[in-house]
Amino acid sequence: MNEKMGWVSWGPRLVSLFAMVCTVRGIGANWGTQATHPLPSDTVVKLMKDNGIQKVKLFDTNYDTLRALGGSGIEVMVGIPNEMLASLAGSIEAAEKWVEKNVSSYMRSNVKISCVAVGNEPFLKTYNGSYLQTTYPALVNVYSALSNAGLGNQVKVTVPLNADVYESSTGLPSGGDFRTDILGLMLKIVEFLSEKGSPFTVNIYPFISLYSDANFPVEYAFFDGNSSHINDGGTVYSNMFDANHDTLVHALQKNGFGNLPIIVGEIGWPTDGDRNANSEYARRFNQGFMNHISGGKGTPMRPGSIDAYIFSLIDEDAKSIDPGNFERHWGIFTFDGLPKYTLILGTTNSGAPLVRATDVRYLQKKWCVMDPSAKLDDPQVAPSMSYACGLADCTSLGYGTTCGNLDARGNISYAFNSYFQKNNQLDEACKFPNLSTITKTDPSDETCRFEIMIQPQHAGTEQRFGWLSLASVLILILLTAP
Ligand SMILES: *[C@@H]1O[C@H](CO)[C@@H](O)[C@H](O)[C@H]1NC(C)=O
Ligand SMILES: *[C@@H]1O[C@H](CO)[C@@H](O)[C@H](O)[C@H]1NC(C)=O
Ligand SMILES: *[C@@H]1O[C@H](CO)[C@@H](O)[C@H](O)[C@H]1NC(C)=O
Ligand SMILES: *[C@@H]1O[C@H](CO)[C@@H](O)[C@H](O)[C@H]1NC(C)=O
Ligand SMILES: *[C@@H]1O[C@H](CO)[C@@H](O)[C@H](O)[C@H]1NC(C)=O
Repeated sequence: MNEKMGWVSWGPRLVSLFAMVCTVRGIGANWGTQATHPLPSDTVVKLMKDNGIQKVKLFDTNYDTLRALGGSGIEVMVGIPNEMLASLAGSIEAAEKWVEKNVSSYMRSNVKISCVAVGNEPFLKTYNGSYLQTTYPALVNVYSALSNAGLGNQVKVTVPLNADVYESSTGLPSGGDFRTDILGLMLKIVEFLSEKGSPFTVNIYPFISLYSDANFPVEYAFFDGNSSHINDGGTVYSNMFDANHDTLVHALQKNGFGNLPIIVGEIGWPTDGDRNANSEYARRFNQGFMNHISGGKGTPMRPGSIDAYIFSLIDEDAKSIDPGNFERHWGIFTFDGLPKYTLILGTTNSGAPLVRATDVRYLQKKWCVMDPSAKLDDPQVAPSMSYACGLADCTSLGYGTTCGNLDARGNISYAFNSYFQKNNQLDEACKFPNLSTITKTDPSDETCRFEIMIQPQHAGTEQRFGWLSLASVLILILLTAP
């Protein structure tokens, strides 16, 4: 497609063109890899294919991930981490090297790269403006580098942005405009995307609204029309997604870019780590969203099909929990590729719900728990527990979580086991002084899963965690020395 043929002049064919920007139709998935024990990339690619997922969004250009995607037919949006924006903004040569190494070479190996995401939510307020100067020049340089490599038509560029780049002065979608502190910058970006036939990518999170605002009307987050409605000059909104999306459409329209294609880069709901993060809500939200977009109805301001990537494919147990304990639980699949709930993506002919990953290789069936003879008032309990939780993952403990109903002993066992498993069941990782023991009886109950990790894949990973284990065992010995 000749990108100089503007969107506007193609008016009547706009809807069919939208589907050709960056992505094939249907729902895609975000595949992040911040996990201590990631599934092998080939297993994940097969999992996607088995579930009819035809497009994937990545946050970087990890070699093994892209190798596994080669020849799969799955369409790929690769990502450039924010930390790389400065160097790409600074020199076209750096951008050309990046494109050669991280796009062209993979395309020669049959990886279907269709889009490059330049940065990830770079204008989030929590970044204190760190990427305000570099994002736009990096976008321009990456585009030029793609162009120079002969990929200007084939591979689009975009910047995934958090929904807080726009706001509404009236609280209604029609009051939408870009944040005043970044208005000029946003217009430069939007104009560039428009000129190059590239899409605007936005991440929309009703869960975060609910999490950060106790007064947020819960029902408004969902799609079953069970919420009180908002009337925007005759246009009625009954869910936050539509209203938020259309706030963006109004912002674009107000600035003269009403036809710019929009991709929803991330949308989803976590299942643990907060009282509103559970499988029931996640299923209700994600299934509601699938049904909402499957009819091709779109939103009131943008009738037609919606391109979206669910967030996310698989849980990532090494993500920072600064945003909240839910951050490690966004997957529609658990870390080991089990569907968390019945979800029909509508991507397969059979219309079947999600199916699990195959041939997953686990560590042995053993767990580290609190020794039944150990006493709860042992002074070592508190430091041991906080040590284990600090290095492993206790985000499934606490009010309203999957393991929130454990008693004090169950809590301690959960923490010990998490630490033991993350250290690949090393004997030394279950030597909390006089407190822990290894068992072959699964301590899990109906809602709370005492995880067994999957086998580490690569020598590199094994070594890394081997050293981590050794280091932490040493610390443990020091910490608990009498
Ligand atoms: C390719 O991308 C990776 C990160 O995804 C980065 O570490 C590496 O420096 C890039 N290569 C070049 C030549 O820019
Ligand atoms: C942003 O500023 C706050 C307060 O000054 C600071 O705590 C935080 O670490 C900063 N974040 C970044 C990404 O620079
Ligand atoms: C709709 O909301 C009401 C009140 O919150 C609730 O009792 C009812 O179960 C909800 N219906 C559905 C289908 O969720
Ligand atoms: C279990 O641990 C969690 C998180 O540390 C805590 O909030 C909860 O109160 C504990 N429950 C019991 C019974 O000790
Ligand atoms: C473990 O228990 C034994 C016997 O009850 C005791 O002698 C020892 O000091 C305990 N060790 C620690 C580290 O508490």
